[in-house]
Amino acid sequence: MNYDYDHKLMAACLRYARRHRGLTASNPSVGTLLVHFGTDGPRIVGRGVTAIGGRPHAERIAIDCAGELAIGSTAYVTLEPCAHHASTPPCAQALIHAGVSRVVTACSDPDERVNGRGHKMLQDAGIVTQTGLFRKNASEDLSGYFSRQLKRRPHVVLKLAVSSDGWLGIKGKEILITGRLARYYGHRMRAETDSILVGRGTVEADDPLLTCRLPGLRNRSPRRFVLDQKGRLPVGSQLVRTACTVPVTLITSWKYVLSNRLYYSGVRTISAEIIEDGLALFEVLEDIAAQGVSSLMVEGGAQVAESFLKADLVDEIALFTSKKSLKEGDIPSPLTQKKISKKFQLRRSLNLGDDRLTQFFRA
Ligand SMILES: NC(=O)c1ccc[n+]([C@@H]2O[C@H](COP(=O)([O-])OP(=O)(O)OC[C@H]3O[C@@H](n4cnc5c(N)ncnc54)[C@H](OP(=O)(O)O)[C@@H]3O)[C@@H](O)[C@H]2O)c1
Repeated sequence: MNYDYDHKLMAACLRYARRHRGLTASNPSVGTLLVHFGTDGPRIVGRGVTAIGGRPHAERIAIDCAGELAIGSTAYVTLEPCAHHASTPPCAQALIHAGVSRVVTACSDPDERVNGRGHKMLQDAGIVTQTGLFRKNASEDLSGYFSRQLKRRPHVVLKLAVSSDGWLGIKGKEILITGRLARYYGHRMRAETDSILVGRGTVEADDPLLTCRLPGLRNRSPRRFVLDQKGRLPVGSQLVRTACTVPVTLITSWKYVLSNRLYYSGVRTISAEIIEDGLALFEVLEDIAAQGVSSLMVEGGAQVAESFLKADLVDEIALFTSKKSLKEGDIPSPLTQKKISKKFQLRRSLNLGDDRLTQFFRA
């Protein structure tokens, strides 16, 4: 057995698992590599990433890919293999039957049907099992799945583009705050999230599509949600006109019934209670999670961003700061580089042309 390659192979496995982020419905996007070690180094004999839609699981795909070569191999898996019978037998059992001799995982699965049982099943079968390699990276990649399992709501990323003087925009005008590269990066983030949410104010001001329009990733647009208490989304808006191709759900007060014109355009609704001056966001998030959504990117505007922060429902912040100043700006950002709560820790920052992206995670 060669333990020297564990870090490299698990890092490769994590990168591979990212391929299907946002595409695996309520299941996490997991990666698996089956590897043999010879005198000339490691050889990958099977690989798998959770299939689009969530099944088959990564382990099953890697085992099928390896065939008999799975015997005696080391399996690298980014999440503990499942231990329960669903529509297919447990992946831990599949690894045992395939003749794998060692299993390395990045983290345990908090699903109450697994939660250590997958690892135990492997150990009981005499398989050398090691866990926790790159746990932090894997937990970050699987944050949506963990959030839905542990908090019963999606992982919430608040994304804002702020001018150098702290404005989000100018009332009544559609303003581009960041440059092309930053906007492309924002589209990449859309491709990796299950869903995106804005307020009615943003739809009225900008008439956004909220899709991913990067070449090759156009089929990876997230589901779109709009906070709109009275269901007044304009029927001619781009969101409504495209609702049959990329789903649009309005979040309204339970007192309002969706108009026939919106319903027949393909728009659907979630109803929620009104508290103080808006919809009860925790309840909204629970309902969104119940539809199998694990990650949600909140793309503004100002009032919505403020409400999510006030309700303490933000897990991650993606702040795009432009060098440009908006002298006549009149929509202040609730966040700037210098105005971030201590609850959040800086994780990484990146220059994108003239703009800077800083990402913060809840400590
Ligand atoms: N720079 C950026 O990153 C960025 C991103 C997006 C937008 N913007 C700009 O921001 C401006 C729009 O922002 P905005 O503040 O006017 O509108 P907004 O935040 O997009 O939408 C606010 C509306 O959402 C509805 N809502 C329902 N429940 C809510 C709740 N719990 N919390 C908050 N809102 C709730 C309310 O409408 P109902 O009462 O009808 O339900 C409220 O009026 C535009 O100018 C746009 O260009 C900037």
